[in-house]
Amino acid sequence: MHRELRMSTLCVVSALAMGVATGAQAGGDKLKIGFSQGTMESSWRVNMVEGNRKYAEANLPDVELVITNGENNASKQVADVESLLAQGIKTLIISPVTADALTPVVKQAMDAGIPVVTLDRKVNTDVTLHIGADNKLIGKSAGSYVCKALGGKGNVVEIQGTAGASATVDRHDLFVETLGKECPDVKIVASQVANYVREPAIKFMEDTLQRFKDGEIQLVYAHNDDMALGAVTALEAANRQKGVMVVGIDGENAAYDAIKAGKMVATFTYHFVAPEGVQYGYKIAKGEKLDKEIVLPTHQVDSSNVDQFLGKGF
Ligand code: AHR
Repeated sequence: MHRELRMSTLCVVSALAMGVATGAQAGGDKLKIGFSQGTMESSWRVNMVEGNRKYAEANLPDVELVITNGENNASKQVADVESLLAQGIKTLIISPVTADALTPVVKQAMDAGIPVVTLDRKVNTDVTLHIGADNKLIGKSAGSYVCKALGGKGNVVEIQGTAGASATVDRHDLFVETLGKECPDVKIVASQVANYVREPAIKFMEDTLQRFKDGEIQLVYAHNDDMALGAVTALEAANRQKGVMVVGIDGENAAYDAIKAGKMVATFTYHFVAPEGVQYGYKIAKGEKLDKEIVLPTHQVDSSNVDQFLGKGF
């Protein structure tokens, strides 16, 4: 699935570079909507793109959706957006890699009268609409869960997402604030960025297990399930899983299976904003006036309710 999407995205990008119109039934009379994805490195992001693309193809015959992949590189994503603006898009949908780096080009779009819809991660300037789940609430809920799970005392390892992404900042800040308020004897003894990707999370966890002896780590809090599952892999490889709880975010089926099997203790569902991204982007491109923010729901999933979620994630 990953591979197929990368291929189709590459086709879109290279066709654009050649000045060729793309899209299901590309044509000059279509409403062109640009969708700048920050990265395709996780199945969560592949679902975001594919869900929006398929919805547009099936339901919006008058839309030409042009999709780009920033490859987890803010400079590449800025160039993608500049290229989309130069092509005369009527609305920009964007899930920005980081907030600061993408803010000027989003402001440029807004100043030029092109409405902007941010998905999941935010920028530091006014946009027409933001759609996503509440990362501050997730960070706070994860903090409260961890305080209770540890009985108010213990050592935590944190595996962070991409530095400077609003999701990372909120998931970290509210988690730390909640531990400080609700269980000051729970300490974060190691914390590192792993870009929401499994392999760097495995490497960080392997290194951390070298630094801390058996019994010195009670819990791992990862900013997504891919990294939480990476931590599980490293713990199992070192035969150190006993007594270490693992918490993730997103709601991957593999994470639900891991909770059921006792390898993780909890995750928090995080909506991948499809098909809402293109649904609302389309309404805005047609001139509809909407509220400035749509907050999607999140759920805590743990051993008490995991059966209801098994197989229903992604
Ligand atoms: O921005 C949020 C995160 O980005 C999702 O939780 C993650 O899986 C994705 O790559």
